[in-house]
Amino acid sequence: MQKTFIMVKPDGVQRGLIGEIVRRFESKGLQLVGAKLMNVSRELAEQHYAEHSEKPFFGELVDFITSGPVFAMVWQGNDAIAISRLMMGKTKPVDAAPGTIRGDYALSVTNNIIHGSDSPENAEREISLWFTAGDVLSFEKTINRWV
Ligand code: TYD
Ligand code: MG
Repeated sequence: MQKTFIMVKPDGVQRGLIGEIVRRFESKGLQLVGAKLMNVSRELAEQHYAEHSEKPFFGELVDFITSGPVFAMVWQGNDAIAISRLMMGKTKPVDAAPGTIRGDYALSVTNNIIHGSDSPENAEREISLWFTAGDVLSFEKTINRWV
């Protein structure tokens, strides 16, 4: 069972897409094990996106992520990381296929609605950065045996 860190970015929160995104992940059969609506400090944003610190878009990215509340989540399931990335769609809206979250809702590479961890190493790093261990639950969903 794999865990991944998923975040509805400030544009997704402002546009009222939290429910739609949660619905898609739940319908897929992934299990929500942690969630919080929160404001993001510059320090947290810079740590989260540390791998992009030398990129030309880094400043704009940090400004954007700290511009309003985000909805941070941990989802769990078989191949949760790769499955989530598929459901999100490609980073650039011109490449994001219809049917994906970005393909259906995003028109801008900065305002692209959703973040999801891209590897097991990053998932572990991001979950421990955004959540304390006690806020990620472990519980059995009896429906799991059907999906
Ligand atoms: P990245 O980790 O490459 O994409 P993803 O979110 O799909 O994992 O980039 C992180 C974020 O940085 C991306 O969601 C939007 C922003 N970004 C830009 O603003 N311009 C760019 O050219 C790229 C590649 C990313
Ligand atoms: Mg990324």
